[in-house]
This record gives sequence, structure tokens and C-alpha cells, in this order.
Amino acid sequence: MPATVIVGAQWGDEGKGKITDYLAEKVDMVVRYQGGNNAGHTVVVKGREYKLHLIPSGIFYPEKVCVIGNGVVLDLEVLDHELNYLKEQGVRSFNLKISDRAHLLLPYHRRLDEVDEERKGKNRIGTTRRGIGPAYADKTARIGLRVCDLADRASFRAKLAMALDEKNRLLERVYGQPGFTVDEIIGEVERVYERIRPFVADTSLVINQAIDEGRKVLFEGAQGTLLDIDLGTYPYVTSSHPIAGGACIGAGIGPTRIGRVVGVMKSYTTRVGDGPFPTELLDETGEWIRQRGAEYGTTTGRPRRCGWLDLVIVRYAVRTSGIGLLAVTRLDTLGGIDKVKVCTHYRKGDQKVAEFPASLDDLAQCQPVYEELEGWPADLDRLTSFDQLPQAARAYLSLVEDLTKTKIGLVSVGRERTQTLALTEAF
Ligand code: GDP
Ligand code: IMO
Ligand code: MG
Repeated sequence: MPATVIVGAQWGDEGKGKITDYLAEKVDMVVRYQGGNNAGHTVVVKGREYKLHLIPSGIFYPEKVCVIGNGVVLDLEVLDHELNYLKEQGVRSFNLKISDRAHLLLPYHRRLDEVDEERKGKNRIGTTRRGIGPAYADKTARIGLRVCDLADRASFRAKLAMALDEKNRLLERVYGQPGFTVDEIIGEVERVYERIRPFVADTSLVINQAIDEGRKVLFEGAQGTLLDIDLGTYPYVTSSHPIAGGACIGAGIGPTRIGRVVGVMKSYTTRVGDGPFPTELLDETGEWIRQRGAEYGTTTGRPRRCGWLDLVIVRYAVRTSGIGLLAVTRLDTLGGIDKVKVCTHYRKGDQKVAEFPASLDDLAQCQPVYEELEGWPADLDRLTSFDQLPQAARAYLSLVEDLTKTKIGLVSVGRERTQTLALTEAF
């Protein structure tokens, strides 16, 4: 089974970075296929915490090839910082490949994201303000600039001038903001391009050749199912495809190449940013989870909204990505509560709703229906095997398996790479 896709089964921050790093040990290549530096993936190895935004979470194994695929929107300044940061952290070898087809996220995308969120006021999406939406919008509008465009300086300059002609009108005339000059942008972009030039490649070719040669490839999704532009809680979504299908488009592989999809889910639910959240806890239990789990955004530091586990969402993720195996994280965080609740379905008036609705108006009328279970003790972080899990925690996991009709393959009981319990051999 050569290729495995890791997807977030909720609203992001499920622990994809941790699970990718854990599984990366057994593969040859790790590929990011969508999103940009809106992602914040945390890896903890031997007590040291690393935060990644663009570079795949396989980077802590020097021999693994790490690929930034064509589906990623690439902010070169952020990539430059991330390379410096990883060097400072002691990462010596960058076995990195960057797609020549990846779109560039440029300073005007960031500014447009900010001014657009300000304009929307209380109707804002709650974006990370990293320029993600405007960069993907340009890609779709066919006015984006790509990594391959940087190879020819004169032509890049001309393309940038053309893009700025439109962006500056928008910034200046609609938003009353200063625009950008070509020279302001081009110096930094060309400097970083010189640094990353050796990494630039036709990454679809690189990945497909690796699979042909029998190498194992792991695709690391960013964000999560409900942030998917097509299948998420639109318009409170990101502008890419975090679901497993996104790996095909964002890496340039065919669906027949994918052997397995692993869905990463927390043992509860969080969301950062605005939009609906049926099982959100606005009481002291929600605050307790946030404090105990230090639930603050990896990228923006915003407090994450916390709530009970919603299995309507996880079932939806299983369906839309073809998840065959679940990785449940943060079982330790929920430890110490007397009773835990799991949303099994919704109720709308006297109607049972078992499938996640498309319309946010419908969703707003859905009340979560809970099953209450016994809690388990707080000290799970020293466990080394599934058999040692308290009975109540095992009952919780069994309910997840039953109601999603999906096996749990990994259980995470702490932040460290080693605090991961494997139920079945994942590879
Ligand atoms: P990602 O975006 O899906 O990679 O997730 P983030 O890194 O943004 O957020 C997940 C947070 O949970 C990070 O701080 C991780 O170190 C942490 N984490 C992951 N798994 C566990 C776990 O099993 N227990 C605890 N306590 N923390 C975890
Ligand atoms: P990782 O990969 C959680 C959310 C934002 C906002 C919406 C749109 O770490 O799981 P954007 O900046 O993408 O236009 O914002 O998506 N969002 C995330 N939430 N984890 C992420 O990434 C996210 N990336 C974007 O908060 O609600
Ligand atoms: Mg994150």
C-alpha cells in the first residue's frame, strides 16, 4: 500500500502534525497538498516543540523527502522564515522539493485578506489573515503567479505588474488603502527564490516516480473536512480542499495511487474562527477543556472554541474522504471529567438528522442529541499500549468505532511523538 492520505476529520487542529510525524518514520516521502501558512502543525520530539506552517511534518527525519505540492499557496517570506527557524532548531538537512506549479502568495493577498475581513465586520469569516482566500481566488481567476514564473525575471516582472494593476485599483479605490509597487515586492521574492531554487521541481513527477519505485508516500492534509471549500460549512471555510480528494489535485496523482486514508480526530471538537458549531460548550466545561488542553491557535494564538465530540461530523468526514482508519488524539485532555458526552445525531423539531446538512440555516435549527458516558482518569500520558487504557476510555473509543463504522488505528495520549498507541499496524 504505497500512498496514505492524512485528513483532518473536524475543523482543523486535530493533531495532524503529530500523527504525520509519527507515521513518517515508516515512509519515504511526506507531501503537503493544499492550504498554505494558515496551517499550524505542531510536532513534539524529546520535549522540544516545533511549529510548522508550510514544510511537511516529516522534516524531522533527515532522510525523508518532504514535498510542497502544486496545490499549496506559497508565501515565500514565510517559507524563508520557516527554513531559518528549522535551522536554528537544529534541522541540518532539507530534503525538500517544491512544486514549480505552486501558486505564490504575495503581500497584496495578505493585505486584501485583512481589509476584506475588516469590511465584513460581524459577518467576517474569521480567517487567519494570511492571504489564503485572495491567493486561491487569483488562481481560480487565472491571474495568479506561480513558482515556475520566477525562472524568467523579465517575464515575472511583467506578470507582477499586470497583477498589481488590478490589485492596486482594488486596494486604493475600493478599500482606500495604499497599493504596492513592483520594486517593493520583487526584491524579497527574488531573494528567497534564489534560496529555494535548488528545491524547485515537477513534484507530480517526483511523487509518481517514487510510488512507481515502491516507495511509501504520506500525504499530509492541512485544515479539516468542515473547512473544505466544497464540503465544509460554507462560507465559513478555507479556500482549498482539505479532504482526501484534494491530495490528487494538489499533488498531481491519480486516485488509484491512494491506498489508505487516515482521519485524524480529537476526542472532542474545536473550531477557531467564526461559523456554526452545534456541540460548542459556552459554559465552564468548554473553558475547562480550553485551559486543560491549552486550546489556542498554533498560527494566530486565538482561543479555540471547544465542545463535545460530534459524531455526525466524523461520519461525514469518513464518507467524504473514504477514511478507513481513525487516529484519535487528546484522549488525555478529556481525562478527569466525571461524565463525557458524545453527539450521536441531531434533532430538528421532531425530525432525527443523522447526516450533516448543507445549509447553515438548517444546521442552526439542529440540536445535538447526546449519549453520556463515564469519564476516565486524567493520567493517560504514561501509557504505552492500548490494553492499559481505562475501561471507560475504551468504551468511549468503541462508541466512536460503532457509530462511524470505522476502525481506530491510533490513539494519542500526549503531545510527544512517543505518546502514541498503535492498535493495528498502520503500515
Ligand atoms: P494540526 O493543525 O492538526 O497539526 O494540530 P495543531 O498542532 O494545530 O494542534 C494540536 C495541538 O494538540 C498541538 O499543540 C499538539 O501538540 C497537541 N496534541 C496532539 N495530540 C495530542 C494528544 O494526544 N494529547 C495532548 N495533550 N496534546 C496533543
Ligand atoms: P491546521 O492545518 C484550524 C480556519 C480559520 C477560518 C477559516 C478560513 O492547523 O489544522 P483562512 O485563513 O484559511 O482563509 O481561514 O479556516 N483555518 C483553520 N482552523 N486549523 C487550521 O489549519 C486552519 N486553517 C484555516 O480560522 O475559520
Ligand atoms: Mg493547527
